[in-house]
Formats: sequence, C-alpha cells, structure tokens
Amino acid sequence: MLPTRKEAEALLEEAESCNPGPWGDHSRVAAHCAEKIAEACPGLDADKAYILGLLHDIGRKFGVRHLGHVSDGYTYMMSLGFDEAARICLTHSFNNKTLDEYNGKFDTTEEELHMIREELTKITYDEYDRLIQLCDSLAGAGGVLDIEERMGDVKRRYGSYSQEKWDCNLALKKHFEERAGNDIYRIVEKDTFRPRENGTAVKFHENVEDGLLKFAVIIAKNQGKYVFCRHKDRNTWEMPGGHRESGETILDTAKRELYEETGALDFSLKPIGVYSVAASCSMDGQESFGMLFWAEIKSFEKELHHEIEKIMITDTLPDQWTYPLILPRLLQYAREKGYL
Ligand SMILES: [Fe+2]
Repeated sequence: MLPTRKEAEALLEEAESCNPGPWGDHSRVAAHCAEKIAEACPGLDADKAYILGLLHDIGRKFGVRHLGHVSDGYTYMMSLGFDEAARICLTHSFNNKTLDEYNGKFDTTEEELHMIREELTKITYDEYDRLIQLCDSLAGAGGVLDIEERMGDVKRRYGSYSQEKWDCNLALKKHFEERAGNDIYRIVEKDTFRPRENGTAVKFHENVEDGLLKFAVIIAKNQGKYVFCRHKDRNTWEMPGGHRESGETILDTAKRELYEETGALDFSLKPIGVYSVAASCSMDGQESFGMLFWAEIKSFEKELHHEIEKIMITDTLPDQWTYPLILPRLLQYAREKGYL
C-alpha cells in the first residue's frame, strides 16, 4: 500500500515541521529524479517512484538520527499501513543488503538493529528499491548533484565510504541509463531542476571581484552547537551577519558583525565561499553578493549590545528563519563543502 501523491506531500511537510532541515528538499529532489527516470523506463510507474522518493527519508521526522532514521521511517510507515513506503525507508540505505556498508553512525537500539537485519533478509530488491538507492545518491537539497561528487562529499563528512556501495551506485546509474536509453543527468534535468520555484534565489560563486561583496554572513558554532541570533524587531532567527561598511575588508565586516550580534570575544573565522541573492529575493531589488564565513566561538561577552535581543546556542535548526529561502541554503552549501 502507498499513499497518494498529495498524501505523501502532506506527510513530508508535516515531518519537516517536526524536524526542519535540508532533508525535506533532498527528498523532493530524490522524488523528482525517481519520477523522471521511471517515466523514461518502460514498465515503471512514475507516480509510485515519485511517492517512494518523497518518503524514503521520512524517518527524519523523529529527529536527527543516523541509522535510526531507517528504523524510524520503517516503523512509522508500517503504522500507517504504507508497507511499500516502509520498505523503501529500509532498503534505500543498503545497496548491497548488508549493514556493514552503512556510512553513518550506528545509533539504533539492539531491537531496532535486529529488526532492520531481519526485514532486509526477507526482501528481494526490485527496480524501485534500486531506483531510490540511485536517486538518493543523486539528490542534493538544492538540486541534482553529480553522483561522484555527492559520494565524495559523504566520504569527506563521515571519513569513509564503502567501496562496494560506491561501485554499486555507479552500476545503478549505468543500469537505468541502459534501460532508459539516455543519460541520467539529462533525464533528471540536472542543470535546471530546483526543488522549489524560488530555489534559484541563492547562487554560489567560485570568485567575484572584492568590490562586489556587500555583506558577510557567519555560520557560527560554539562547542559543537549553532549560534543564532534574534533581532529586537523580529521573532525569527538568523545567522550573525550584516552589511560591509566603507573602508572595511569583508573579513573585518565578519569580525565586527560576529562581535556585535553574538558578543563573541574569542573566535576563529574563515571564509566558506561567495554567494549571491537574486533580485527577487534581495531587499534592494538587485542581485547582491556576500561572503559566507565559518566561525568557532570560544568565549562571549556577558551582555549583548546593538539591535540583537537574544542569541540561541543549539544543536537543532530553528523552524522560524528570518530568511527562510536563503539561510537553510547557506547551511546546505557549508555542509556540501564539508563544514557541518
Ligand atoms: Fe536520502
């Protein structure tokens, strides 16, 4: 049994509100890829592929877990009677049907681990299991990624990537390309598809002229937790940052803003990269460029000044962002670059 498209979309939205993060858009990209590939392969049901792609990570609803999201997703979907989606929650993480290849942390209970093992042995992988495994390794949160870059990124973040899984993903890509008679990236519209219409609002750049950089934004951490701040006139959260003043280097802007907005006294700071915000989303109606930084704060001043009312030191992401189209995208970019 499967939910309808609409039901699946509603389930994902509801789950995202419980545990906001880039995983929601990652799921939308996986769903898009699955649908497109299924359309191109005779005999596959594109609707079913889309729904399975959308729900494969639904276990993330229950919080930030590694292997735990697999058993959470399975149990949750089974409880709703959606056994086909439950199966995908399980199979998408194990290309070779063994737990040894899992890239993340083993943060399950003994029972959960036992359940995953037991259920996996009962399943013979079909084309949908294979398809979602492939789509999972193609899907970023902002769009479709190069499969080898994505695996390389996971490898950097977790320190290793099973060679069997790597080879298997490449073999899956080849398998569906042969079946569809077309290049995977062309089928999934790699260069143009974005999970939301306004997903193109933020772009990243290798290099831009220094004079174009008008603001600095800082992803700040303190003892492994994020540091976000809240302006006195708003009830939403943002990252420290702000406009460059005349005569300042962009690094000085970042240092000044980090101090003003969080009270950080002792910190290390380094640039992650340049990004731009498209006209439709920027406040002044023009494409504007900024530098994204990474900071590790070691100590804070006792009191906050300036316009910041409050800071929050947390390991979960806020669900009320001041710039919901921009800040999650910046975090995702930092993650893709191996910072988070
Ligand atoms: Fe996934």
